Amino acid sequence: MGFMAPTFPAVRSLTSNQRLLISSALVLVVAVLIVMFGKLGSLRDKAQGLSEHVQKHLHLNDHPGQEHQQQPQQHIINDGSGPQCAGDPPPPVPQRPASQEAFANLRRKWFAQVVGDFDTIDQSDPNVRTNVEAISDGGRRVLRDIQLRWDRVLKNVGPLRAGDIGFHTSYTRLLRLASAWATPGTAQYRDEEVLQRLLQGLDHIHKIFYNSGNQDIKDCIKSRNNWWAIQIGAPKTLADICVILYDQLGPDRRQQWGQTIVDFVGNTAIPSLKGGNRAWTARVLVITGIFMDNEDVLRRGIATLSAQGGGPEVSKNTLFQYVEAGAGEGLYKDGTLLSHDVYPYAGGYGLVMLDSVACLLALLNAPDSPDEFRVTDPNAGIIYEMVERNFLPVVWQGMIFEHVRGREVARRDGTGWKKGQALICAAALLSKGCGGNVSSDLESFVRLWHNSNPGATLNGCTLSQMPTLQSILRNRTGPVAAPPRGAFATPLQEHFAYHAPDSRWCFTLSLCSKRIGRAETLGVENIKSWYQGDGMTYLYTHTHKTHYDDDYWSTMDPLHVPGTTNHQVEPPPPRYKGMGYRDWSGGACWAGGGGGNGVAFRSGGAGARVAAVSMDHYAGDKRSAAKKSWFMMEHAIVALGAGCTGNSEPASNLHTTVESRNLDEPGRLLVINGEEYRNEPDWEKASNRVYWAWLENTAGYVFLDAGRDAPYKLFSRQRRCGKWSDVNEGEEKSDCHREYVNIIIDHGVNPKVSSYAYAILPLADVETTRLSSENPTWTLLQNTVEVQAIRNRFDNGNSDVLTATFWAPGGVDGVGVDQPCQLVWGSWSGGSSWCLTVSDPTHKVQRVAVSVPAIGQWGLRTANASEGVVSDGDRVIFDGLKDGAAKSIFFTGRGGHDEL
Ligand SMILES: *[C@@H]1O[C@H](CO)[C@@H](O)[C@H](O)[C@H]1NC(C)=O
Ligand SMILES: *[C@@H]1O[C@H](CO)[C@@H](O)[C@H](O)[C@H]1NC(C)=O
Ligand SMILES: *[C@@H]1O[C@H](CO)[C@@H](O)[C@H](O)[C@H]1NC(C)=O
Repeated sequence: MGFMAPTFPAVRSLTSNQRLLISSALVLVVAVLIVMFGKLGSLRDKAQGLSEHVQKHLHLNDHPGQEHQQQPQQHIINDGSGPQCAGDPPPPVPQRPASQEAFANLRRKWFAQVVGDFDTIDQSDPNVRTNVEAISDGGRRVLRDIQLRWDRVLKNVGPLRAGDIGFHTSYTRLLRLASAWATPGTAQYRDEEVLQRLLQGLDHIHKIFYNSGNQDIKDCIKSRNNWWAIQIGAPKTLADICVILYDQLGPDRRQQWGQTIVDFVGNTAIPSLKGGNRAWTARVLVITGIFMDNEDVLRRGIATLSAQGGGPEVSKNTLFQYVEAGAGEGLYKDGTLLSHDVYPYAGGYGLVMLDSVACLLALLNAPDSPDEFRVTDPNAGIIYEMVERNFLPVVWQGMIFEHVRGREVARRDGTGWKKGQALICAAALLSKGCGGNVSSDLESFVRLWHNSNPGATLNGCTLSQMPTLQSILRNRTGPVAAPPRGAFATPLQEHFAYHAPDSRWCFTLSLCSKRIGRAETLGVENIKSWYQGDGMTYLYTHTHKTHYDDDYWSTMDPLHVPGTTNHQVEPPPPRYKGMGYRDWSGGACWAGGGGGNGVAFRSGGAGARVAAVSMDHYAGDKRSAAKKSWFMMEHAIVALGAGCTGNSEPASNLHTTVESRNLDEPGRLLVINGEEYRNEPDWEKASNRVYWAWLENTAGYVFLDAGRDAPYKLFSRQRRCGKWSDVNEGEEKSDCHREYVNIIIDHGVNPKVSSYAYAILPLADVETTRLSSENPTWTLLQNTVEVQAIRNRFDNGNSDVLTATFWAPGGVDGVGVDQPCQLVWGSWSGGSSWCLTVSDPTHKVQRVAVSVPAIGQWGLRTANASEGVVSDGDRVIFDGLKDGAAKSIFFTGRGGHDEL
């Protein structure tokens, strides 16, 4: 049946009569075939059903490090960022003489990356043995399934059809077998029979399907149907196979298969090829060049990284350059990493890009790499910086934050800590592709994250990643990076996080605006994301590090997302790239207090001691709204909401969810105003006289508005049941059960103007919570739609800081502003040092004048200031505010005063 695919192109050049004739003949043939294969077909359908199950099972057994590279499901969405067929195919690749030694070196290194470097792998290591056994098992299964048919090579994977993902999966399976064949210790190791089966399979795919003459494939490329599998997935896998089997394939196969890859990849000098897809395409060409011994192809791959060879529209897609605010996809200097134009995505596509580039740099730029093929782009250094600049701000204890993982949160097996392990492996690999200090820096992050990741990192990596990681971890004298402490901001992706000074907890916020999309929903994934980007608060604690990975997304209540204010009627389905409706989303990290200024890069882990963040919340369905602020400090986060409004139809209660906790074990104690509640699930309690509450293993909660007129606080304990398929239709349908404790503020039915004010004290004990309620270090100054502000004294009274969101020009606590802004003002060291920090969360106001009478009153003198910030008597002008970034001015005082 192998003739069928190549026949189609010929059909195109016939007259309509001839076509009719042939069609009729074909119909006849097909009819006969249907009868012949009728029985077989139903059997095949069964096998197909089985195969999906097996496929899923196999994916579960994949090594996490490879998972994101091999799981095609996540990349087949055509969103315009992939390569296109641009005009004529590139000319055939001429053979060029090059140093054989260089190619052999690169092949050896790539083999080590894909299969393993068995000179350095310690075969007695139990992790290695487990890994080898798994590879052997995987090889056995593939071998069992190989069965050459007219439309497939594996009996349970297929068909080999241009619009189907089956051909990529077929190559992936054959890669698995090739790796097993090449790995010492497996049942298939260098087995001649295995090799012959493998070659038959590969020859079969090439002959009947994946060859340059296949018009169906070319048509798919043109219409962008299944392009990822055709132009990236399959060639990437095939190229790896060809390196592994280099000697066994012989020159003819290498030349033909390589040319097929080059033909299908096509022109890379096109503007739509960006980010992770560009990195992958570069990899495909580099590795193809290596197994073809073809210098041109290899160089074309290297040029693809830098996006050379096209006009300015193309060259701005170089992987080695920061993009400007508003440019969408890419790396930003402030630490932001966006994919799909509007989503923070370090924990998904960003990781894919880091990993792909790290692979290539470790291959081409290691100290022992050949000189002729180094990546010499002078800007390549930003990739080495990326780990600290773009990843450090979104990692706590070796786990990547949920809200920078896009719709991938709705995948059961792709947890934040597993993504953290992938990051650890990518950073380890990257450290091999550079020299000296840089490598030492990268290794220090690898150690930090490895030491704190909740999983066994060495268990989670592939055999080939193991030696690199082990060599870093075994070096006892190597430095460990300091863990982040305090607040960090990457304002262009509207991400803010506060790390406890002792790393025991971390608090993060997920915001949206006209610039940053609400949480990502795409296809069947993350379909209940309504409020995930509307000021969702995450509290990570060392007592339950995997809280969000513990069947959280399948059991959480999407209408009670912590931190958000919304009505109780289920909104219409979220839209892909649905944006916030308002400009205001951002914050300011205070540069004073002896901490950092909130920029992670080169901070040595020192973040800001205080931060103010705010968001003008207007829900996707436009039926709930609130002005929200979060003031983050060393032991508490104060959350304020004003102008809370709901107008749902039918009318429903507007809720602000303080907490909805997925308990690590059922029955965790809840304390309210000092009384203990250990009730069974289905328990509820409502009161407006709640001063404080405490949830074992999690946090204390202090209500700043307790009293007669305060909104009711609802407490409940629930046994929640959900399925992963509820949030991701491609996921498992089995039930998950978890016990939740909920703390909710009830603003009543469709309120016009309501408010809330509470503090979260992460991991505080009961006594501290009670004391904070009775005798807080903070004062609530105002909570209105004009100003939200608190003042906080800490360091035994030696530090005194005002944090304020000025939604409108105005004043509070002796500080006035002529424009809306975010502001933090305060002193430390008993009044000898002062700092004023201001930012513009709308990204629209360039200049703010702040009046601060304390400057004259205390005789403060300017010590230094950010560019554009000047003081003039009691006034400070902030000029050139941009991109949500904060600016600061420092003063020195005489110290020893009591009050601001
Ligand atoms: C390496 O670090 C040392 C000490 O911090 C510094 O003096 C030196 O300039 C650095 N070298 C490079 C190449 O960055
Ligand atoms: C251990 O790490 C230190 C610091 O990065 C480095 O100088 C040293 O060469 C490393 N030792 C080994 C055996 O790799
Ligand atoms: C600015 O002054 C403050 C207070 O004296 C000091 O802590 C800080 O390091 C100074 N920053 C710069 C860049 O000089």
